[in-house]
Amino acid sequence: MKVSVVFYSHSGITKRVSEAIAEELSAITDWKVERLELKPVNEVGQGFGKYVWGGRQVFMKKKPELKPYRFDDGADLVILGTPVWAFSISPPIRSFLKEHKLEGKQVFCFYTCQGGPGKVAKQFREGIKGSGNKVEIKGFDQNQLSIEAFEAEARRWTQSIVERIES
Ligand SMILES: Cc1cc2nc3c(=O)[nH]c(=O)nc-3n(C[C@H](O)[C@H](O)[C@H](O)COP(=O)(O)O)c2cc1C
Repeated sequence: MKVSVVFYSHSGITKRVSEAIAEELSAITDWKVERLELKPVNEVGQGFGKYVWGGRQVFMKKKPELKPYRFDDGADLVILGTPVWAFSISPPIRSFLKEHKLEGKQVFCFYTCQGGPGKVAKQFREGIKGSGNKVEIKGFDQNQLSIEAFEAEARRWTQSIVERIES
């Protein structure tokens, strides 16, 4: 089984969750696991302006150009992670989903946020229509769980994914 953990992370939280998922997969299976961090060519800055520029990209439904990356189209399982931006999936993930329809793959999605996931689940389902499979969406919400607890929760979720795939 080949797995690709694909994510975008602006300030590192989604990255931490992605790494916990990839590490847990490697620890409990012999599957081939790749991590793929998407990076836009023009990254939004870290100051307060990120809300303005990030929000603007979302409202304009931008699909920013991504730095070159290699996605293994042969992956059987794709785990896709995004931070929530303006109640939506982040623009780099929108770019990725435009480029990859994920047909025939098992797809699990997650987001990290601060209390307002908005339309993320709906957008993930719409963006991944091509997979032909039911898409599961998991939230890591800082209003419900501390960031410190995200990693343990990510490992539990990963275990449940593996159990379901192997049963
Ligand atoms: C531009 C921008 C917009 C955001 N919009 C939302 C939002 O609508 N709802 C929410 O719950 N959190 C929002 N957040 C907070 C992030 O989703 C949250 O901090 C996330 O965990 C950050 O993940 P990262 O560190 O991987 O970038 C926003 C953050 C940024 C930078």
